[in-house]
Amino acid sequence: MGYNVAIDGPAGAGKSTIAKLVAEKKGFIYVDTGAMYRGLAIHFLDRGIKAEETEKVIEACGDADVSIRYEDGTQQVYLNGTNITGRLRDEAVGRMTSKCSVIPEVREKLLDLQRDLAKTQDVIMDGRDIGTCVLPDADVKIYLTASVETRAKRRYDELTAKGESCDFDEIARDIKERDERDMNRETAPLKKAEDAVLVDSSDMTIEEVVHTIAGLCR
Ligand code: DC
Repeated sequence: MGYNVAIDGPAGAGKSTIAKLVAEKKGFIYVDTGAMYRGLAIHFLDRGIKAEETEKVIEACGDADVSIRYEDGTQQVYLNGTNITGRLRDEAVGRMTSKCSVIPEVREKLLDLQRDLAKTQDVIMDGRDIGTCVLPDADVKIYLTASVETRAKRRYDELTAKGESCDFDEIARDIKERDERDMNRETAPLKKAEDAVLVDSSDMTIEEVVHTIAGLCR
């Protein structure tokens, strides 16, 4: 069994930024499970399937092969043999992912892939249900969160830096909607595992969060 660190939390809490840095510092492999869900969502979008068409989504799971490879130390997501990493962060993909990930069959499809990665390697894995469902015996569990305002501001700054025009209120609304969906779905909702350490990054720098989390790991 590898050494397993689970980081869960809402969208925009900084999980991937922090997990990548902790992975570097500690020599763990960073596993971004949101990217796997996004990979499946791209498969549905490319087939013209809408998130509401649950039966079609479930059927399309049957011929989706999502796999993960590490190239130069970074995670690449392949969908049926094609590297789709560059498309993962599109807004439309994010929206579709949030809606499709409530479907139990979609979650089931990715569960073994996630567990297999953690079985033999030392990983820091981020997502929504890692500490509660995917890796209930993880060595360290973190619930990383931040206020809606902080998360919306970070997203706003990120998009603005990329030269994309965006509206702060719309981003905040979108974040609230995703929280609502992620926290209230029936299968594997986002919640803090009882034995997870709560880290609220609203008033912390990236360095402080990395230091805190790395300090909890072996
Ligand atoms: O972390 P992210 O923004 O890339 O996640 C995209 C969506 O995927 C998010 O709305 C919730 C879903 N997700 C999930 O349900 N379970 C996970 N372990 C990871 C992501």
